[in-house]
Amino acid sequence: MLIGKHYIENPIVQGGMGVGVSWDQLAGHVSLYGGLGTISTVGTGYYKYPKYMIHSKGERPNVLDCNSKEALFEIFQNARKICGDKPLAVNIMHALTGYSQSVIDSCEAGADIIICGAGLPLDLPNLTKDFPDVALIPIVSSIKATQIIFKRWERYGRLPDAVIVEGPKSGGHQGFKLEDCSKEEFQLENIIPDIIEFCSRFNIPVIAAGGIWDKNDIDWYLNLGCTAVQMGTRFVATHECDTSNIHKQILLNCTSDDISLKGSPVGLPSRSITTKLHEMIQKETAPKIKCISNCVKPCEHGKGAKKVGYCIADRLGDTILGKYDTGLFFTGTNGFRVNEIISVKDLIDKLINGE
Ligand SMILES: Cc1cc2nc3c(=O)[nH]c(=O)nc-3n(C[C@H](O)[C@H](O)[C@H](O)COP(=O)(O)O)c2cc1C
Repeated sequence: MLIGKHYIENPIVQGGMGVGVSWDQLAGHVSLYGGLGTISTVGTGYYKYPKYMIHSKGERPNVLDCNSKEALFEIFQNARKICGDKPLAVNIMHALTGYSQSVIDSCEAGADIIICGAGLPLDLPNLTKDFPDVALIPIVSSIKATQIIFKRWERYGRLPDAVIVEGPKSGGHQGFKLEDCSKEEFQLENIIPDIIEFCSRFNIPVIAAGGIWDKNDIDWYLNLGCTAVQMGTRFVATHECDTSNIHKQILLNCTSDDISLKGSPVGLPSRSITTKLHEMIQKETAPKIKCISNCVKPCEHGKGAKKVGYCIADRLGDTILGKYDTGLFFTGTNGFRVNEIISVKDLIDKLINGE
């Protein structure tokens, strides 16, 4: 498939996964084997390369150090050593405090494609105007959001190079209210046809995400008119995934009863595996909320965290540090189907040729 100027061999996008679940190793290998690998821009300094924390004074790292440009550059260099000049994407959350800076840093670091969710990236074409070859993909969960983005981007003489439609079976945060996540009308297969019809008027590829598991599911969405799929959970269960082995093991061992939607400091439901952390949150014995970085705007510097009893950045940070008790382990609804950890090469092979 062609996304902007970038040719991707297989119709598979590896979803960006923060904090630290999709960095150089996972994204580099996905791109090497003909999918689109996506590097997450969040927490690159504080959680990956603290050596680059050069802007902070005192205990609190500021946003330039949390999502560090220098660290992102190093992650890109590492990924490029794996995949060469094959297309590589970044995932930037619009809700990030350092969103605009992360967009510029990603372009300079050599991202071919920017995938942007967690809010409406209405200003993205303007931010990237000096990088016309960088393809732009918003993540949406409704036709309304799609139309708003198209309308606004037309002002900049640009349209999305593709649109990712994410339904409520995906891992992590959802673009829906909690009560809507289980409603029939908000399921991916029901929201996507209108968006495919709308995008086809402009010849813009649509990518389906959330709850896609195997070749059958991929074929189903391609037959519906999608150009590709984006998948997250299955890529967590790979050797190359940058997350901790604990995260992979918890995924391997979980049952469908362990997976549920829960409240999050950002005010939207998020899907994760229920662990001891949730027991501690209920008993109000979860780790203290320090709000070291004011990481996401909707949390309002820890206010959202206090409401739900935990800090999203710290708990996701503990996931990649392999802290079982205090980590927060995101998964899509299909997480319980993971029964082996395999290589990215084998996973892509299964997804293309069948199990
Ligand atoms: C561990 C984990 C972390 C995630 N983090 C992000 C993120 O930082 N930004 C984002 O846009 N989506 C994030 N997602 C969503 C994925 O990119 C992907 O769209 C989604 O997981 C697809 O659904 P699936 O897991 O059922 O395949 C995350 C998902 C998981 C499982």
